[in-house]
Amino acid sequence: MKVLVTGGMGYIGSHTCIQLLEAGFTPVIFDNLYNSKATVNERIRLVTGQTVEFIQGDIRDKALLVKTLEQHNIDAVIHFAGLKAVGESVEKPLEYYDNNVNGTLVLVDAMRDAGVTRLVFSSSATVYGDPHTVPITEDFPTSATNPYGRSKLMVEECLTDFQLANPDWSITLLRYFNPVGSHPSGQLGEDPQGIPNNLMPFVSQVAVGRREYLSVFGDDYPTPDGTGVRDYIHVMDLADGHIAALQRVGIQSGLHIFNLGTGNGSSVLDMVKAFEQASGKSIAYKIAPRRPGDIAECWADPAKAYAELGWKATRTLQQMTEDTWRWQSENPKGYPE
Ligand code: NAD
Ligand code: UD1
Repeated sequence: MKVLVTGGMGYIGSHTCIQLLEAGFTPVIFDNLYNSKATVNERIRLVTGQTVEFIQGDIRDKALLVKTLEQHNIDAVIHFAGLKAVGESVEKPLEYYDNNVNGTLVLVDAMRDAGVTRLVFSSSATVYGDPHTVPITEDFPTSATNPYGRSKLMVEECLTDFQLANPDWSITLLRYFNPVGSHPSGQLGEDPQGIPNNLMPFVSQVAVGRREYLSVFGDDYPTPDGTGVRDYIHVMDLADGHIAALQRVGIQSGLHIFNLGTGNGSSVLDMVKAFEQASGKSIAYKIAPRRPGDIAECWADPAKAYAELGWKATRTLQQMTEDTWRWQSENPKGYPE
């Protein structure tokens, strides 16, 4: 099976390409390198011994997409490409709706022209808004509190309507919880540009001395230690979830929705402690005010993915932090140019 991976040079896409190769699929990467570097592909080759074809292009370029889908005889698309920084989305809503919503519509239109009818989409637990309780099942009500979240929700709704009108299509919406960790080789990992927005990249940059201390956003939440609780999932488990989805429902027509999480919640201070153990470094932190828009706790009920995809997360918090540390300490400045 040949799989077009939009955003395949990015954090989750690159790890998924490795697992696709391991599972016998042929990935083809389509990425505009807005938030990634082409040297990622060199690392994929180092780890797998295989070369992945790369097309540098934008998902809003329909002609290039149609040409790519046809020339490469693509059977399915995994769609990671998009913008993902919540704070930035508040400042630049147009860019977020254009890349994430318009970009997905152009991609689906191109797939229709090229006769490719299988799509797996990167959604997010952000579509559950502030959940009324935890753990979260797929039938919880959805809502959004910022343009990034709204763009994911809009895409989910567009794809749901489209699948209803085109019942022969297979469309899978994967709602990721909090991806962390890196490939165990230390060759690939998360390489955010500028100051990291997310917890784990920030913690690991404190550990290598790129940042002075971590600001812990709030210690007065109604959680066991007062800090926010999330469902951190190893990026390799997440990658495996895509393979399971392609194999199990990617060939069945219908709309398929799955949470990809572990079902366990960890607090900010749990993560700091786990990282200190993995790295042997002490992580300086200061308690800071709550970050606007943050919720107290969020974790998945991953039972549906296990029942229907035969997939569950198996990697531990220790593996998540050890792998992050290996990547960060061996590549303190991220990928080379
Ligand atoms: P990333 O920024 O590392 O990867 C996204 C890739 O898409 C980058 O390589 C970027 O260059 C590319 N891209 C962006 N806009 C493009 C465009 N218009 N045309 C072509 N390529 C484009 O992000 P990631 O963490 O790997 O996330 C991948 C997907 O998963 C995103 O859709 C994101 O919203 C979603 N997601 C991520 C998280 C997370 O915490 N990382 C959580 C939930 C959902
Ligand atoms: C963020 C996004 C969410 C996205 C998710 C995917 C926001 C508001 N939300 O969620 O849309 O789907 O990533 O991974 O950005 N924290 C600190 N200090 C920091 C950074 C984070 O204390 O410097 C805390 C946060 O308050 C939170 C936890 O760490 O309790 C995790 O934060 P983060 O990694 O940003 O993820 P989310 O907020 O869960």
